[in-house]
Amino acid sequence: VPMTTVETVRESYARCRQNPDFFDAFYDHFARKSSEIGPLFSNTDMQKQNELLSDAIVSLISFAKGDSAARQHIEEIRLSHDRYQLNIKPKWYPFWIEALLDTIKESDPDCTPELLENWQTVIQPGIDHILSFHSG
Ligand code: HEM
Repeated sequence: VPMTTVETVRESYARCRQNPDFFDAFYDHFARKSSEIGPLFSNTDMQKQNELLSDAIVSLISFAKGDSAARQHIEEIRLSHDRYQLNIKPKWYPFWIEALLDTIKESDPDCTPELLENWQTVIQPGIDHILSFHSG
C-alpha cells in the first residue's frame, strides 16, 4: 500500500479519535450487523476493550506499510481470535469493517468516499492476516 495512502488514513484516524464516543458508536454499529455480535461482548470490560482496540487499529494501519512491531501485534490478535481461542467466525469480519467505516463516516469531519476507499485498502492486508490459517 502506498505510503501516502497510509498517511491519509492515519490522519483520518487522529481526527476520528477527537470524537469521545468513537468506540461506543463502533460497537453500536457492529452489534446492529448481526444478533450474534452483541452477546460476544456481554462480559467485556468495554473501557479496557476500547483502549486495546484503539491500539489495534493503529497497528492495523501500520501493518499496511510492513512495520514489524505492527506485524507482531496483528499476529497476536490473529492467535487470540482464531478457532482455538475466541473462535471469531470469518463471516463476521465484513461486519467489523462495515461498522468501522460507518463510524469513521460519522466521526471524521473531512470524510469523503475516496477516504473510505483508502481506509478499506489500508486495513485489508491486516484483516487478511488475522483471517489467514483460520479455516472454519
Ligand atoms: C478482543 C470479537 C475483530 C482486536 C475481542 C474479544 C471478542 C472479539 C469477543 C474478547 C473480548 C473480551 O475479552 O471479553 C471480535 C469479532 C471480530 C473482531 C467478532 C470481527 C469479526 C477484531 C479485529 C481486531 C480486533 C479486526 C484488530 C484490529 C481485538 C483486540 C482485543 C479483542 C485488541 C483484545 C485483546 C485480545 O483478546 O487479543 N474481540 N473481534 N478484533 N479484539 Fe476482536
